[in-house]
Amino acid sequence: MTASVTVRVPAKVNVQLAVGGLRPDGFHDLANVFLAVGLYDEVTVAPADELRVTCTGPDAGQVPLDRTNLAARAALALAERHGRDGRGGGVHIHIDKDIPVAGGMAGGSADGAGALLACDALWGTGASREELLEICAELGSDVPFSLVGGAALGRGRGELLTPLEVGGTFHWVFAVADGGLSTPAVYAECDRLRETSGTGAGVADVPDPEASAALLDALRTGDAAALAAAVSNDLQAAAVSLRPSLAATLAAGTEAGALAAMVSGSGPTTAFLVTDEAEAAKVADALRASGTCRSVRVTSGPAAGATVLRGSN
Ligand code: C5P
Repeated sequence: MTASVTVRVPAKVNVQLAVGGLRPDGFHDLANVFLAVGLYDEVTVAPADELRVTCTGPDAGQVPLDRTNLAARAALALAERHGRDGRGGGVHIHIDKDIPVAGGMAGGSADGAGALLACDALWGTGASREELLEICAELGSDVPFSLVGGAALGRGRGELLTPLEVGGTFHWVFAVADGGLSTPAVYAECDRLRETSGTGAGVADVPDPEASAALLDALRTGDAAALAAAVSNDLQAAAVSLRPSLAATLAAGTEAGALAAMVSGSGPTTAFLVTDEAEAAKVADALRASGTCRSVRVTSGPAAGATVLRGSN
């Protein structure tokens, strides 16, 4: 019998996040271009009498350990579908967390996708890729992408994925802010700003979001300068409105020579695209010295999706 399984799952940055109108179900239609980057959570599952979640890592104190944790919900969803309810998804889930919490980098989604893949291996469930993706979509809009990784265009509320070709490695610096931002609060602020912008555009008649052809070309050719010219995030103004101090972080990265500076997803982590590793080190140093963020991370993408690292007997 397998005693434990460990899965590694990447963080993401949205190189384009085009937000459409508010839907009747409370979500927004998106054209969401995801790029997985090399910051990872590791999720380890082992048999236990009942469902238990533990977490280690610098931000572990901010991670909920109850059934609101997406990793716990993923285990319960798989157990229910495969008739393991009697055993209550009896499993110990340990999260070794390196992805910033509530930072707009899909850390919670990564843990959901990781726990799902790990429990599937631990229990020998043999769920198909389609079924795993379906469960991921039920857990949250960003969870399917955490499973597949690489780069993808997410339509619908972000869960309907088309894989994208990437022709090179893109180098990134991330500035982690103090505290998190609530994703629903950032979407609500985006709606509020649209209502009050004076353009007369209400939240219901926003144009359909479309992926940028120039951005997809830049990804395909691995051209960092072209990607920098095309990145956009419709949630950025909302995140900065809720956390005005992010403007100083964005300015510090731009002054240090980043090709592009943007809020990552719903924030408050900020993302800086740079030409190469040497530039990354320079921008990272400047961000640290600026005193405008809590910590700085250097990495690159695309990164592989959720991957089983080891299963021990
Ligand atoms: O799907 P997920 O649970 O990550 O979404 C969290 C919240 O973010 C939703 O309840 C909604 O308020 C907002 N959201 C949205 N439109 C999306 C995705 C998320 O409004 N496409």
